[in-house]
Order: sequence, then C-alpha cells, then structure tokens
Amino acid sequence: TSEALARAESLIATIPDFPEPGILFRDISPLMADAAALRAVVDAVIEPFADAFDVVAGVEARGFMLAGAVAIAAGVGMAPIRKAGKLPRPAASVDYALEYGTASIEMSDDLPRGCRVLLVDDILATGGTLRAGQQLLAELGLVCAGTAVIMELDGLGGRDVCGPVHSVFRV
Ligand code: PRP
Ligand code: MG
Repeated sequence: TSEALARAESLIATIPDFPEPGILFRDISPLMADAAALRAVVDAVIEPFADAFDVVAGVEARGFMLAGAVAIAAGVGMAPIRKAGKLPRPAASVDYALEYGTASIEMSDDLPRGCRVLLVDDILATGGTLRAGQQLLAELGLVCAGTAVIMELDGLGGRDVCGPVHSVFRV
C-alpha cells in the first residue's frame, strides 16, 4: 500500500558527510530491518516487471540485500555482480566512475544467453554503477529486462546515464 511505502521511505536514513565530506549518504539498513517496509519495497520493485524476468542481478554490496529478497518474492534465482577480484571465474569486467572514486565490477557466466535479467541496486546516484551493470549483462549476451532501484537521487543525472530506471522513491 502507499502507506506502507511512505513508512518505508521514512526509514531510509540520511547521513551527511559520509563516507566523505559533502556526500549525503542514504542508508537503507533501517528499511531492510523492518519486515513490512522490506515487503512493500520488494513488491514495488518487482511490480512493473512481473513475469518479465528470469533472474535478478544485484550489484555488490548493497544491491545484494535487495536482490536476494526480490528473488524469493518473484520466484526467480539471483546472480551476483561483484566488485573486481572477488569472483573465482569472472567472465566479464567493466570499469566505471563512482560518485566517490572509481571501481570495477565483474560477473560469472552462469546464466544462459538470452536470459532476461532484472538489474537492481539500492540507490541510483550518478548512474555509473548501473550503467556498468547493464554493460556487463550485454557483454554476457543477457537481456536486461529492467533496471530498478529503491531510491533515485534526482539532479545527479543518473537517468541520463543508464536510461529508464524504475525507482520506488525519488529525492
Ligand atoms: C553505492 C550504491 C550504488 C552506487 C550508486 O555503492 O550502493 O551501488 O553507489 O552510485 P552511482 O549511481 O553514482 O554509481 P558503493 O559503490 O558505494 O558500494 P556498496 O554498495 O558496496 O556500499
Ligand atoms: Mg552499491
């Protein structure tokens, strides 16, 4: 319900100057810790893509929290997109710029070609992370069935970088 979602949004904590001065950090941990809020957000993430994806992929680390829950709720499997150096058999790797710093993400070749993947993460900021995730899927011959986040930070241009994104909340 919209009430449950409004409550879920109120549980996202906003912390100034973390991890660096000038960064306003959005912490989804209190939301994830609340059963009703987690349920409402997971359902809202899935809703536009119901029956349109075969697996959900989450971006390490905070995207994992959402992806596991989405997988069970949607009745699909989950594929991890990991920070470089963590996977024993990386099949593709993409470098990207982050709101703070740079990084590289990797994925294993565990999914069949043409598999429809819902790509999820906690936050859309500059869009670099999700754009890299989309590129990873493409490199592995996978179909991005949609890109979804819990919260989109307006004004950072993320949507211009990674195209249409389903965001449950926008601030
Ligand atoms: C944060 C957040 C998103 C990304 C959003 O992850 O969880 O993944 O930044 O920023 P962008 O849209 O500008 O790319 P971070 O890399 O800080 O690491 P974590 O998920 O491991 O905490
Ligand atoms: Mg992240």
